[in-house]
Amino acid sequence: PAPGWAIEADVAVVGSGVAGLTAALRCAAAGLRTVVVTKARLDDGSTRWAQGGIAAALGEGDTPGQHLDDTLVAGAGLCDEEAVRTLVTEGPDAVRRLIATGARFDTDPESGAIELTREGGHHRRRIAHAGGDATGAEISRALVDAVRGQGLRTIENALVLDLLTDGEGRTAGITLHVMDEGEHDGVGAVHAPAVVLATGGMGQVYSATTNPAVSTGDGVALALRAGAEVSDLEFVQFHPTVLFLGADSEGQQPLVSEAVRGEGAHLVDADGVRFMTGQHELAELAPRDIVAKGIMRRMQEQGAEHMYLDARHFGAPMWESRFPTILAACRAHGIDPVTEPVPVAPAAHYASGGVRTDLHGRTTVPGLYACGEVACTGVHGANRLASNSLLEGLVFAERIAEDITAHGPHREGVPAVPGPAPQPPRPLAAPGTRAEIQRIMSGYAGVLRSGPSLHKAADALAALHAATSASAASAAGPVAEPCTGSWETTNLLDVARALVAAALEREETRGCHWREDRPDRDDDHWRRHLVVRLSAGEP
Ligand code: SIN
Repeated sequence: PAPGWAIEADVAVVGSGVAGLTAALRCAAAGLRTVVVTKARLDDGSTRWAQGGIAAALGEGDTPGQHLDDTLVAGAGLCDEEAVRTLVTEGPDAVRRLIATGARFDTDPESGAIELTREGGHHRRRIAHAGGDATGAEISRALVDAVRGQGLRTIENALVLDLLTDGEGRTAGITLHVMDEGEHDGVGAVHAPAVVLATGGMGQVYSATTNPAVSTGDGVALALRAGAEVSDLEFVQFHPTVLFLGADSEGQQPLVSEAVRGEGAHLVDADGVRFMTGQHELAELAPRDIVAKGIMRRMQEQGAEHMYLDARHFGAPMWESRFPTILAACRAHGIDPVTEPVPVAPAAHYASGGVRTDLHGRTTVPGLYACGEVACTGVHGANRLASNSLLEGLVFAERIAEDITAHGPHREGVPAVPGPAPQPPRPLAAPGTRAEIQRIMSGYAGVLRSGPSLHKAADALAALHAATSASAASAAGPVAEPCTGSWETTNLLDVARALVAAALEREETRGCHWREDRPDRDDDHWRRHLVVRLSAGEP
């Protein structure tokens, strides 16, 4: 649709989690006219749900080199070592700058040092946390306060639609659909020669996920439509310990942080027997893919719908002080972790892949940057190491701001008032098909997948896509009016199709991509990244 209004800026930041707000604050501090657009409220993204914390080599005796080693092992041969080195080397100072921005981490009452916990795949205590298990909420609070305090221009309730480009394919801004924001309502545009995608993940492509309802893959879908390189989409991480609320429970599910295992909780099966010991030297603290697989295997062996996390030995005082958020969530669902083991099962948690970037967050479209979960910087490889995601958002957001500042807001040749490339109208999927997409993905392309199951997923998604296009052509059937729900559903359909295509192509098991029909890692053929595209002629 044609934009009804337009704002001129130097930088448009799309998304308001740790990545987006850090990039925006740094760009604004460098004097760039910066606009933050976000789909719901400023603090509604995934960042505020993060529990465990933020990983960085801050502890005595720890080094970036050890953090690098743990990250590479978790990434199962597909990390970009230079990107990881950048992350772990710049990470500690980036965390200190976050503290200077206002974030308050838990500290040892006597020494004043930041308290550090452990999570899966880390050989050391290296995870800083806040409010016990409410780290993301504190980071979000601090960044939102800073953004408001510094008077940055923000537009909430603004769903990004498409990238605008000039005649030579360079970024010229974005179109967006805004609701209930007064002056800027309906479809409009932010004209800017630099756009930072920080839209978060795509967990809502599955029925059960730890992600909030807003995580609908909007940035990846935009990038696919804009022709930017997108890779590693098959590596969706399933968090091993999500509170089990029933096999039919849909939408956002409560997370039970790895930090609970980091502090000594045990995974036990239906008979109360620990099953991760003997499977990996780190037992319950093995990398996340190994624990998720261990749980799924034992569930299959026992015909069980879930396993248990047993931390009764923590006692009430520790539960209350160290894990207040998780304690409250469990009790809200009638489970008391102080007196009983907590039922847990894996659920979709994190997209390790996304929009491909270099070490400065630059995508393959000039002027378009990506940062945070939407991006694929190369630091996660085939399986993200726990608590590296907040750190990635922080470190690469700062690098993006430096890059934009270094090159100036107006690149040579980019018109100050860009001539947007008109976007062809496209059929939108009806919001009612969202649940069907999620069922297809959870049923056939979830934590366990195989060639036949992925073919079923691909066929079912292709049928939904074809039905949408056919209904649009005949002006009948389940096609919705343009609205947030229909655009989100269209994005989910686009990213689901791309994800399934990549999962079908990768005929091996690696990291969090677990093909039952190809159970081994195959370094001879598959130690490489898959670039995904929408099929020719689409959308
Ligand atoms: C957790 O707290 O277990 C989540 C940490 C992460 O996903 O990095």
